Amino acid sequence: MGKDTLTVTDNRTGQTYEIPIEHNTVKALDFRQIKTSTDDFGLMTYDPAYMNTAECKSTITYIDGDKGILEYRGYPIEQLAEQSTYLEVAYLLLYGELPTKERLDWWTYRISRHLFLHNSLIEQIQAFRYDAHPMGILISAVASMSTLYPEAKEVHSPEVREKQIWRILGQIPTIAAFAYRHRIGRPFNQPDNSLSYTSNLLYMMDFMNQRDYEVNPVLAKALDVLFILHADHEQNCSTATMRGVGSSHTDPYCALSAAAAALYGPLHGGANEAVLRMLQQIGDVKNVPTFIEKVKKGEGRLMGFGHRVYKNYDPRAKIIRKVAYEVFEATQSNPMLEIAVELERIALQDDYFISRKLYPNVDFYSGLIYQALRFPIEYFPFLFAIPRASGWLAQWIEMLEDDEQKIMRPRQVYLGAARRDYIPVDKR
Ligand code: CMC
Repeated sequence: MGKDTLTVTDNRTGQTYEIPIEHNTVKALDFRQIKTSTDDFGLMTYDPAYMNTAECKSTITYIDGDKGILEYRGYPIEQLAEQSTYLEVAYLLLYGELPTKERLDWWTYRISRHLFLHNSLIEQIQAFRYDAHPMGILISAVASMSTLYPEAKEVHSPEVREKQIWRILGQIPTIAAFAYRHRIGRPFNQPDNSLSYTSNLLYMMDFMNQRDYEVNPVLAKALDVLFILHADHEQNCSTATMRGVGSSHTDPYCALSAAAAALYGPLHGGANEAVLRMLQQIGDVKNVPTFIEKVKKGEGRLMGFGHRVYKNYDPRAKIIRKVAYEVFEATQSNPMLEIAVELERIALQDDYFISRKLYPNVDFYSGLIYQALRFPIEYFPFLFAIPRASGWLAQWIEMLEDDEQKIMRPRQVYLGAARRDYIPVDKR
């Protein structure tokens, strides 16, 4: 084994440099020493969309896209989905270890003490138009929490941070439920802290004063598994936004509001909705072969297939497929599921998809599950945001405690006009 360094020769000057390699990366700043003259700024790296740049060192989530591996703090996602709960996973992401029984009770109690919204926040939600998009309400509501809890700006105090985390994880489901009830013109149900995290969400959305009302435990469990699968996914667009905005030491509400805004975009949180629209467009199992042929001719994409990182079966998709069947047994059967299964069956044995390593991703089945739980389509990104809040917050703390991090400030390659003199308007 040779040395852990990279030898670079600058052919402009003939000079050679030895750059250290650590964790299979080189530091972009090590290239700054490469200059053609003493007043040269030095070499920079150019990487639009951070396609090959590690922005941080992290101990939270591990992904191996080629092997289809996803782990939180070293625990395989399959084991967590099978044996854990979302709140326990949130603790794991935030504190680094699985909680003891006492710590889990304490943690569950802390969150359950922060489910109620400030009256002023309730008034704000009510001030939205009845058809306001739920993500617009989420982004605004979380940002306005910063005005209700101004001490949150003490981002270097672990105690203050912890309190805001309880508030955020506790109140986000309540905001989701109130945004929904506002849209359908029904009174708000106050949270019930005797229920589990997801049962309480379903209760707040659904309850209409029925006698003997009970949340269906199969549906609450299915939602809990989906929450586990969506809790973190390392440096995606919204997480990078949380870190980037948080790096100016703004409070967690403003940073999380920005992360939710990034998630709102159709390239990030919106693919599950596209899958559902595609299945509706196919309409019947018998139309699947024709649809696949069209995709292969380049006339549209098979939504819910393919991933930038996973070049193997998305491990989350495997789990979600099983959950989908459980949900459909508890609700009525969904003709869309039959179409989805047939699409998957044909695609997985077709050379077009095999040669391009296109496998089902997490969104292939999640939209179907949300639909079966009777969530309106525009709620799907909100259901992604609720559990991702724990991942965003864990990444935010890691960023604040990392001595190597500073305010995020990328460089640019300026290609605009050279210096020129101002011309008064009447002479242009
Ligand atoms: N259907 C048909 N062909 C596809 C698909 C697809 N879903 N995805 C990629 N391809 C083809 C693409 O046409 C290209 O073929 P060729 O080499 O002949 O030009 C090849 O596969 C490579 O595609 P790419 O666009 O370079 O791949 P990418 O890594 O840039 O894109 C992707 C990844 C997820 C944007 C893409 O696979 C896609 O658009 N999938 C459908 C949308 C979707 O399901 N998105 C959800 C992603 S998971 C959500 C999350 O984790 O946040």
